[in-house]
Amino acid sequence: MDPLTYGRQWIDEADVAEVADVLRGDWLTQGPLVERFEKALAEYVGVSYVAAFSSGTAALHGAAAAAGLGEGDRLLTTPLTFAATANAALYVGAEPVFADICEETLCMNPLKAEKKLEELPRKIKAVVPVSFGGYPFDIGPFQVMAKEYGAVLIEDACHSLGGERGGSYKVGCGADMTVFSFHPVKHITTGEGGAVATNDAEFARRLRLFRSHGITRDSSSFEDTPDGPWHNEMQMLGFNYRLSDIHCALGLSQLRRLDMFIARRRELAELYRKHIAGLEGVYQPPARDGHAYHLFPIRVAPARRAALFAHLAENGIRLQVHYPPVPLHPYYRKRFGYKKGDFPNAEKFYEETISLPLFPSMKDKDVVRVVNCLKDFF
Ligand SMILES: Cc1ncc(COP(=O)(O)O)c(C=O)c1O
Repeated sequence: MDPLTYGRQWIDEADVAEVADVLRGDWLTQGPLVERFEKALAEYVGVSYVAAFSSGTAALHGAAAAAGLGEGDRLLTTPLTFAATANAALYVGAEPVFADICEETLCMNPLKAEKKLEELPRKIKAVVPVSFGGYPFDIGPFQVMAKEYGAVLIEDACHSLGGERGGSYKVGCGADMTVFSFHPVKHITTGEGGAVATNDAEFARRLRLFRSHGITRDSSSFEDTPDGPWHNEMQMLGFNYRLSDIHCALGLSQLRRLDMFIARRRELAELYRKHIAGLEGVYQPPARDGHAYHLFPIRVAPARRAALFAHLAENGIRLQVHYPPVPLHPYYRKRFGYKKGDFPNAEKFYEETISLPLFPSMKDKDVVRVVNCLKDFF
C-alpha cells in the first residue's frame, strides 16, 4: 500500500503549466507575478496589503522587525507552536515569553496572556497567538489586550489560511499583521514561501523594505536627493527574503483552488470524527465553524503513544507530532532556564498527541485505512 504522510501538496497540470510559462518568460524573479499574487491574496483574506516573503519564517522575522521589536523587548507567544514563531523575537534581539494554551482550543489562553502582560508592563511589544492546527481562536480578547498594553498583534496563521471567523471574515484581517506559510504541507504551496497580510500602510512599507535589503527605489520616500534616475537607497538593515515569480505563479494557481482545498479538508475531518467517535482511548481535536484543518491531532494515553506511532508506521502511515513545546527545546532551556512543568497544558498535549494524515488529495478510503489501523491497535 502507498505510504501516507500527515500532509502533502496537491499539484495539478494547471499549476505545472503556470510555472512553465514563467520559466519560458523574461522574469524569473521580481517580475509582475509577485504583485499579482500579493493582490490576489490580499483580496482573498480581505486586507489592503500583502507582502510576500521567501518563507513563513522570513515573514515572521519581517513582522517582528516591522512591529519595531528590538533589544530589551519581549514577544509573547504560545509554547505550542513551531520554533519559528518564537525565534522571530530572537532574530531581532528581543526575547520570546510564553503563555500556556487553553486545554479546549489548544491556542494561547487569553487570561494567561493578559497575566503575562500585567507582569511585564511596557516590555511586551508584540502578542503572537497561533491558530493551532487551523483553529480560528477568538481574536477579540487579543485585540483588546494588545491595544490596552500598547502591543502589536501578530497572528501566526501558518496553519489557518482559508479559515474564517464570525461566519465570513477570513483569517488574515483580524490582527495588525497576519503571517502565512506556503510550505507544501500547508493550505496552498509555493514550495517554500510565506506572506504577511496587513491593513496598515506603514507596516506594509516596512515589510517590503525589510524583505529586500532595506533598499528602496520609490522616489517619494527618498531621504537623499537622487544622484540620477538609477538612484536607490538603503534605509534600514534588511535581508533578501523575496519570493520569486516562479513561486508566485504556483501560488496564484494554487490560490484559485484554496476554497476547494479547505472544503475537502473539512469533509475529511468530518469523516475522521464519524469513524473515530466511540473509539475508546482516542480523543479528537476541537471542532469549530471556520476551522481550516491544517492538522487533525488526536490524543491518546501517553504510555501508548510510541507503540501506536510505531504500529501506524509499520502500516505505511508516517506521522508527526505537533509540537514539542518550544520553551522545552534544549536551546531555550539552556538560554532562558525553562523547565518541565512550566507550561502544563502544552506539555500534557504534547505527551498525548499524534497528527493523523490530513491533506485535500486524500481519498475517503485513506481515512478508513487510518481509522482501521487505530482500531486494530486499540
Ligand atoms: C505555526 C508555524 N509558524 C511558522 C512556520 C514557519 O513557516 P515556514 O516553514 O514557511 O518557514 C510554521 C511552519 O511549519 C508553522 O507551522
